[in-house]
Amino acid sequence: MRRDNAAYEFATALPPGYDPRQKHAFLANCQGAPVGLLDIIDGYPMPGTEFIGLLAVRESAQDSGVGRALFREAERFARDHLRARTLRLAVVETNPVMGFWIKMGFRPTGEVKPFEGKMIKSRSALMEKEL
Ligand SMILES: CC(C)(COP(=O)(O)OP(=O)(O)OC[C@H]1O[C@@H](n2cnc3c(N)ncnc32)[C@H](O)[C@@H]1OP(=O)(O)O)[C@@H](O)C(=O)NCCC(=O)NCCS
Repeated sequence: MRRDNAAYEFATALPPGYDPRQKHAFLANCQGAPVGLLDIIDGYPMPGTEFIGLLAVRESAQDSGVGRALFREAERFARDHLRARTLRLAVVETNPVMGFWIKMGFRPTGEVKPFEGKMIKSRSALMEKEL
């Protein structure tokens, strides 16, 4: 489904009170065409923790290692440049991607929060990985 302003939102969305310099975005290119994106927020919700806001791979490029490559790059950046100790993210319960994150080394923290997106109302489960 098409979402107006999705690219702008990806580039600018931040929790209230956070500085745009705390946001880092990664774009994966394949033969000159963008195939995936990932963003992290530095120090959210606390110093030392990096929050992965979005990881999305173009449907035609899925299942070929792009998601893993993007994540590995962001993980390396968080560890080496941001001195992160923990990576954190939220998985919406209706999205069957927890298996992907478990393969990337994440574990559910047990925290579950209400999630209200533009198109769905659900719950999201928090996952973390220690670096
Ligand atoms: C989830 C997503 C980012 C995975 O990207 P991808 O490029 O297809 O994944 P990769 O090809 O790098 O897969 C890496 C490994 O994870 C596995 N995997 C991929 N998607 C999976 C899923 N949904 N559930 C379980 N395992 C998954 C692959 O089989 C592969 O396993 P292997 O190491 O045994 O070969 C992609 O499917 C996507 O963009 N989904 C829509 C957006 C989304 O839901 N993002 C996550 C929000 S929390």
